[in-house]
Amino acid sequence: MGQDHLTDLIERRLDRRSFLAGSLGATAGLMMGGRRGLAIKRQGAALKFVEVPGGRDGHHHVPTGYKSDVLIRWGDPLDPTGPAFSPTNLSAAIRKTQFGDYNDFIGYFPLGHGEVASRHGLLCVNHEFSRPDYMFPGFTTRKDLVRLTKSHAACELASQGVSVIEVELKDNTWGRVPKSRFARRITGLDTPVDISGPATGSPRMRTGYDPTGRRVLGTFANCAGGMTPWGTLLSCEENFQVYFVGSTKDHPEPENLARYEVTGRLGAAGYWGMFIDRLNLVREPLEFNRYGWVVEVDPYDPTARPIKRTALGRFRHEGASSVVNRDGRVVVYLGDDAPGEYLYRFVSAHTVHPVDRKRNLHLLDEGVLSVARFDDEGTLRWMPLVFGSGPLNEKNGFKSQADVLIETRRAADLLGATSMDRPEGVEANPVSQRVFVMLTNNVGRGKTNPLNAANPRTNNIHGHVLELIPPGGNHAAESYKWDIFLRGGDPKSKTDDADYQGSLVTDNGWISCPDNCTFDRRGRLWIATDGHRGGADGLFACETSGPRRALTRRFFRAPAGAEVCGPRFTPDNTTLFLSIQHPGMGPGAHFSQPTCRWPDQGSDGPARSAVLAIRREDGGVIGD
Ligand code: FEO
Ligand code: CA
Ligand code: CA
Ligand code: CA
Repeated sequence: MGQDHLTDLIERRLDRRSFLAGSLGATAGLMMGGRRGLAIKRQGAALKFVEVPGGRDGHHHVPTGYKSDVLIRWGDPLDPTGPAFSPTNLSAAIRKTQFGDYNDFIGYFPLGHGEVASRHGLLCVNHEFSRPDYMFPGFTTRKDLVRLTKSHAACELASQGVSVIEVELKDNTWGRVPKSRFARRITGLDTPVDISGPATGSPRMRTGYDPTGRRVLGTFANCAGGMTPWGTLLSCEENFQVYFVGSTKDHPEPENLARYEVTGRLGAAGYWGMFIDRLNLVREPLEFNRYGWVVEVDPYDPTARPIKRTALGRFRHEGASSVVNRDGRVVVYLGDDAPGEYLYRFVSAHTVHPVDRKRNLHLLDEGVLSVARFDDEGTLRWMPLVFGSGPLNEKNGFKSQADVLIETRRAADLLGATSMDRPEGVEANPVSQRVFVMLTNNVGRGKTNPLNAANPRTNNIHGHVLELIPPGGNHAAESYKWDIFLRGGDPKSKTDDADYQGSLVTDNGWISCPDNCTFDRRGRLWIATDGHRGGADGLFACETSGPRRALTRRFFRAPAGAEVCGPRFTPDNTTLFLSIQHPGMGPGAHFSQPTCRWPDQGSDGPARSAVLAIRREDGGVIGD
């Protein structure tokens, strides 16, 4: 969710084995497209869709010749025969059987080979957020918030986390498969989640209900994420800090609390701890150390427990996109989405096994996490966060690698990492191997996030995109080159200081506040926005090479109040799944009075976050 929204909020108050090999093959092909993709010719990469006009209304818009279907909405039963949506029913048990709220990241995991891989698969969708004034009728003012109960908190926790659904394409339309053995909810309420990697069992990870420091009861604030080459989901815990409440006066780790912006204050997004002991800083002072991690989920095994991978660090994780490096190791790019925070990279110690999936399932437990320093001359240096090296020692309060990871932010501060303008999506281009970083905006520049060459605008209201160049496509190299790919904003505005490499971006095509992104097979970049300052949010596409490099064009326009997230293509690029998050939001809006009633468009129902499946009417490749 956008930082502005947060501030605003607080203020206002199988026979498994037989297909696993096949599906893994298809998934691995998709993810390893980096190497395979080098063979894809760049010619024919021209984007051919007719731009969607900018503006704002209560509907979504796709280009002529395209169709879009609502696949699933907040509150829809995961199994189509399950209990129907009823926002006034405060049963968390029922909400756990339904699609959660605020859908964000989408992962697509094929079921089958070849053409089938793009027609039948599993969608893993993150549920990032919830808020009482949009989830329940009758909570429109700060005064109403005192009526919130444990049932409300439980419903919200049951509506965050992850949904796994099985989907299938028939007659050019996607639908859910009934009675799927894979369909499941992972929630913030009570799904057991294992802890693994160097911070496992650390005294700082132990609580009253888990004295071993090895298992957490749930995951929440799941924003963006990634798909691993071995076909698992990485789900990122982002704005976890708002949910822990209670006095911090006698807290054992005040510096840690402060560095992660955990204030303990009550707010519309921070009341759960009044009713749920483990989220209360007085009753369970260390529970907050067990959030802010990347969670790995195996969608192909509905009995597999999700696992928090502590080797990937602890911060406000936006996403976790991975590539198989040319030496076979897996590399994960990670951003900490807050003003002035950092860009990270994880390189596994061992290589990805191309066939034996089981051997990959714990690859993310061992490796080196590094943080980025950008110098003015265009070099990026990755600095390892390793206990005992440089300042990461006992003198500075670190006794182990567990401590370095639990306090990743402070460790990165000590190494002199470069403060960034809110890193959101980070993805490697499968054709060029260059890495693109979405820096969504920064409207609160101060001492802790000064201007620097990689973040060059003082009041960066529109955000920008960086292009990182690993030498020879080596994602494990110590140094990269970097450049600015584009600076968002209206190119006609003098004050915006926008730049699209000289391209003539139209009034409909300029971007603002880039958030999630993805690449298609031809190496074209697709950027979703969150908080576009020129109208509704959208999905924009641009080529990354040739004369139209960085010339962004609007492919999709969101309904009023919504941000766009989770763009995800099927392997053959003929379907694009898109997350539409928090439609109907706006100043003074709430459950009963949203700014639009998308997608149901009734006269009195709430607006509902939902996933769209977009295809060409002729079934062709999107964008061609
Ligand atoms: Fe949840 Fe940084 O967006
Ligand atoms: Ca969001
Ligand atoms: Ca955002
Ligand atoms: Ca985001």
